[in-house]
Amino acid sequence: MNLKDLYIDFFKSKGHKQIPSAPVVPENDPSVLFNTAGMQPLIPYLMGQKHPYGTRICNYQKCLRTNDLDNIGDTYHHTFFEMLGNWSLGDYFKKESITWSFEFLTKVLNIPKEKLAVTVFAGNDNIDEDKESISIWKSLGIPSEKIIKTKNDNFWIAGETGPCGPDTEIFYFRSDEAVPNFFDPNDERWVEIWNNVFMQYNKINENTFIDLPNKNVDTGMGVERMVAILEGVDDNYKSSLWLPIISKIEKISNKSYLGNEKEMRIIADHIRSAVFIAGDKSGIKPSNTDQGYILRRLIRRAIRYAKKIDININSNFISEIAIEIIHIYEKYYSELKENRETILEVLENEKNKFNKTLEKGLKEFEKSLNYIKNNKIDAITAFKLYDTYGFPIELTEEIAKERNIIVDTIGFKEKFKEHQEKSRTASAGKFKGGLASDGEMEIKYHTATHLLNAALKQIVSKDVHQKGSNITSERMRFDFSCDHKLTEDEKNKVEKLVNKWIQEGHDVIKTEMTKEEAIKSGAECMFIEKYPDIVTVYSIDNLSRELCGGPHVKNTSELGEFIIIKEESSSAGVRRIKAILK
Ligand code: SER
Repeated sequence: MNLKDLYIDFFKSKGHKQIPSAPVVPENDPSVLFNTAGMQPLIPYLMGQKHPYGTRICNYQKCLRTNDLDNIGDTYHHTFFEMLGNWSLGDYFKKESITWSFEFLTKVLNIPKEKLAVTVFAGNDNIDEDKESISIWKSLGIPSEKIIKTKNDNFWIAGETGPCGPDTEIFYFRSDEAVPNFFDPNDERWVEIWNNVFMQYNKINENTFIDLPNKNVDTGMGVERMVAILEGVDDNYKSSLWLPIISKIEKISNKSYLGNEKEMRIIADHIRSAVFIAGDKSGIKPSNTDQGYILRRLIRRAIRYAKKIDININSNFISEIAIEIIHIYEKYYSELKENRETILEVLENEKNKFNKTLEKGLKEFEKSLNYIKNNKIDAITAFKLYDTYGFPIELTEEIAKERNIIVDTIGFKEKFKEHQEKSRTASAGKFKGGLASDGEMEIKYHTATHLLNAALKQIVSKDVHQKGSNITSERMRFDFSCDHKLTEDEKNKVEKLVNKWIQEGHDVIKTEMTKEEAIKSGAECMFIEKYPDIVTVYSIDNLSRELCGGPHVKNTSELGEFIIIKEESSSAGVRRIKAILK
C-alpha cells in the first residue's frame, strides 16, 4: 500500500473522516494565489465555524508554492506537492496528536524510534514554553537529547495574522551513518518530516494573540519527501513517485538522468505543476496575470529546459509527459481524468504559442549582448522580449544569469506599467503575485456581485450567503449557498431586480468601522474571522451592505445591463451563477 492510503486508513481508524482535497486555487480566499498548505482551505473551521464532516478530519491536499522557483532543480524542492494532514477542530489536542504521529511513524511505517528527533516551542514574551509536548515526547521514549527547544522555528502561522500556535516538528535521520546521540537541527542529515501545530490563537497584530474558540490541531507531512525517505533514496526524483516521469523524459530526450538531473527535474516539476493547475476546478488558463501567469511561466520554463537537453520542442513531448502524470495521479484526483482534454490542450496551445517566438527571442537576446552596457540588459530589450517574444521577465533574468549579466528589472517594471496604462487593460495589474488592482469592467462586476447577492436574498431566501466569487473583465461568477436549482421564475426575478436597482442609480458608499459595528449593522461577509479589527463596508443605499475591500463604482447606474447566462451547481448545497454586464 502506498503512503497516502496508509495515512488515511490510519487516521480513519482514529475516528477521522477523510475530506477531499480542495482545489489548488483557493475558492474563497483572494489573498493568496494558491493553497500553500493543507490547512489553508480550513481556516474558517480553525476559526470556529462548524465543519460538515465533524471535528476529526484528514486528507491529502494539493499545494503549490511559487516563491522559490529558482530552487527547483535540486533534489527536494517542488513547486506542486501533496500534503498529508490530520486535524482536530476543538476535539483532541497535544497528547493524542503526538501519540498518533509517533504510532504512525513507528508502527505503520516501521521507522525505528532512534531515528526520530523533535523540536518544540521554547516560549516567548507572549506565549509559554510548550512543556506539555516535551513531556509527551519523553513519555513515548524520545530522550531529552533528541528534544530541542526553539523560539522562532516552532511557532506556525500561514501569513502575518490569523490562526496560529506553537508546533512540534518531527525529524528523521536520513543517513546510513550511525545515529548521533544528540540531535542537532543544523546537521543536514536530520530532515523535517512532519509538523504538528497546536492552533489555539488568532494573531490580530504583532503583539496581540487572542484565544480561538477551540483548541485545534493542524498537522502536515509532505508526501514527496516521506516517500523518498521510505524508499531510501537521497533524491526525491529517484523515488517511485517521480521515476516514471523522469524515465519518460529520458526516453523522449534520448539522454540519461545522470548528467542531466537539473534540466530533467525542472521539466518534470514544472509540467506536473502545470497539469495540476490546468486540471484544477478553477479552469486557469495561461495569461499575464495571477495564477495564469504562474502557469505560463512554468510551461515556458519547462520548454526552455527541454530545449537545453535537445528535446525537439515542436514534438508533442509536453503531452506525452502530461499523459504520464495524469496516469499516475488520476486515481487520487479524478479532476485530472475529467479535465484531461483541457489539460493537454492548454499545454499544447501554450507550447505552440511560445515555440513560435522562442527561437527569435533567443536571437534577440544574443543580439542585445553586442550593445549592452555595464553588463546589464536594458529595460527596452527586456520589455521587447516580454511583449514581442513572450519571455516572462523571470526567464530573461534566468538566461541573463547564466551569462553572468543582469537585467534592468526596475526599468522593466516601469515600462510594463506604462504599457498597461496605455492599453488601459488594468491600471496596475497584478505583477509577480503582487496586489491586484482592477480594470473598469472588473470594478463594475464587483459592484454587480453585491447587487446579485442582495437580490438573491430578497427573491430566493434570506439564507442565501456568498460562498465565493470570481471576476474577469468578461464575466462574473458568483457562488452562493442554496438548497435547490433556481427556477426560471426566480432567475428572471433576480435579473429584473438587479437591473431595476441599476436603473434607479443608487450611490455606493464606502465607510470604515470596527468589526463589531459592522456585524451590528448587519453587514454581509463571508468569513468574519478573516477580517481585521477595522473594516471597510460598502453600502448601496439600504439595499446592500457588505464587508469588502472594494473597489466599486460610485453609482449603480454605471453598470449597464445585467444578464444571467448560466445557473448551475457548484458543489453540494452551493449554486453558481455566471452573469455578464452589457
Ligand atoms: N500548517 C502546517 C504546515 O504547513 C502544518 O500542516 O507545516
